[in-house]
Amino acid sequence: MKLHQVWQFSDMKAVSLPRLRTSPKRHAWILVIASFIAIVIVWAYLYPPPRYTSPIRDWLPAEPARELTDEERASRVVFRQILTTPIVRSKSSKIAFMFLTPGTLPFERLWEKFFEGHEGRYTIYVHASREKPEHVSPIFVGRDIHSEKVTWGTISMVDAERRLLANALQDIDNQHFVLLSDSCVPLHNFDYVYDYLMGTNLSFIDCFYDPGPHGNFRYSQNMLPEVIEADFRKGSQWFSVKRQHALMIIADSLYYTKFKLHCRPGMEDGRNCYADEHYLPTVFHMMDPDGIANWSVTHVDWSEGKWHPKAYRANDITLELLKNITSIDMSYHVTSDSKVHTLPRGHLVMTWRADRASPLSSSSSVSCSLVGAFRQACCRQLRRVESS
Ligand SMILES: *[C@@H]1O[C@H](CO)[C@@H](O)[C@H](O)[C@H]1NC(C)=O
Ligand SMILES: *[C@@H]1O[C@H](CO)[C@@H](O)[C@H](O)[C@H]1NC(C)=O
Ligand SMILES: *[C@@H]1O[C@H](CO)[C@@H](O)[C@H](O)[C@H]1NC(C)=O
Repeated sequence: MKLHQVWQFSDMKAVSLPRLRTSPKRHAWILVIASFIAIVIVWAYLYPPPRYTSPIRDWLPAEPARELTDEERASRVVFRQILTTPIVRSKSSKIAFMFLTPGTLPFERLWEKFFEGHEGRYTIYVHASREKPEHVSPIFVGRDIHSEKVTWGTISMVDAERRLLANALQDIDNQHFVLLSDSCVPLHNFDYVYDYLMGTNLSFIDCFYDPGPHGNFRYSQNMLPEVIEADFRKGSQWFSVKRQHALMIIADSLYYTKFKLHCRPGMEDGRNCYADEHYLPTVFHMMDPDGIANWSVTHVDWSEGKWHPKAYRANDITLELLKNITSIDMSYHVTSDSKVHTLPRGHLVMTWRADRASPLSSSSSVSCSLVGAFRQACCRQLRRVESS
C-alpha cells in the first residue's frame, strides 16, 4: 500500500516538473522548503533525541575489530533486547531468595524471623543438591525445586544457579534474585534490604581482574575468539541480580558452553578452572560492565588467605563482630599475586556466609552450638537494626 503511494507520488512529481521550471514563485518556495528540511536534518544530527541513541550506546562495549561470529551476533541482539526492556516496579514487586544448599538449612528459623510480616514481598526457592531438606519453618515448606547433584568446582554449580533462576523468573513479580548458601545469615532487616535492592539499577556481582595463578592462569585459549584473556574476570559466586540480568543468564548459551567446556577442574594441560568463580564475572564484564556493582552483598572473610574462607566458632559470634561486618564500606580483593585491592562499596552487607567446617565438601556443616549462638546474636542484631 505504502509502496503504491510512493510510486504515485513520484509519478505526479514527474508530471508537474515542466510547470515548475516555468514558475519562479514556486521555485522560491521549493528553495525555502528545501533549506528548512536541510536545517532540520542538520539539527537532528547535532542534537539527536537521547532516548533513541543512549540505550544502545550505553550497554554494549565497543565491538571487537574482528568480524563477530554468527552466535555472537545472535547473543548480542538477545542481550540488547533484554537490557533495554524497561524495569517495571509495582506495589507487588518481590525479591526472590534462592537457597543453594546440600540439604537441610540450619538457619531457617532465623530467616523466618527476617521474613516475618513481609508476606507478598518475597518468594523462597530451595535447591537441595544432596538430600531432601527437613523444613522446620512453615514458610520453607513446599519451596523445594527440582534439583540435581552439585559437584564442587564444576559447571553443575552454575547449572543449579540457572535452575533456581528459571524457577524464580516464572513469577513475574520477582524483580531481584538473591543467591544464598545454607550458611548465610541476614544482617539487616527486611525493609532495608528490600528498599536497597528495589532502589537500584545494579546487580551485585563480584568482579575483579586477577593476573595471578588463581586468576588469569586459569584462562584457556580455547575460549577464543569470543572470550579474550583481557576480559577474563574472577569473583565470588554469591550474586544478587536484577530481572534483566537473570534473564540474560538463562538465555545465554554461547558463553555458558565456552565455560562448560573450557573452564573446569582437570583441563588437558593439568590446570584447573572453576566456572562458578569466572563465568558470570567475565560475561557481565563484557556485556554490561556498568550494570554491575563489582562487589557482592554477601560478606565472606578471605583474609586468612587460605583455600576456604574463615570459619567461625560459637565464641566468635558477638554483637561487635556483626556490627563490624555491617559497617564494611570497602571491598577487598586479594589477588593471587598477593596484592590487596580495595574499592569503595555501598553499605549493603546483606548476608554473611559464616562458613565452613569441612573444606572438601560443598556443604558447610555448621555445628549446632554455632547455629544457636548465631540465632541469638543475629536476633539481637536484627532487633538493634530495627530499633535504630
Ligand atoms: C534506573 O534507570 C531508570 C531508567 O533508565 C532511571 O529513570 C532511574 O533513575 C535509575 N535509577 C537509579 C537509582 O539509578
Ligand atoms: C565495575 O567495573 C567496571 C570495569 O571493569 C566499570 O566499568 C564499572 O563502571 C564498574 N561498576 C560500577 C557500578 O562502578
Ligand atoms: C571490630 O573492629 C574494630 C575496629 O576495626 C576492631 O578493633 C575489633 O577487633 C573488631 N572486632 C571484632 C570482633 O571483629
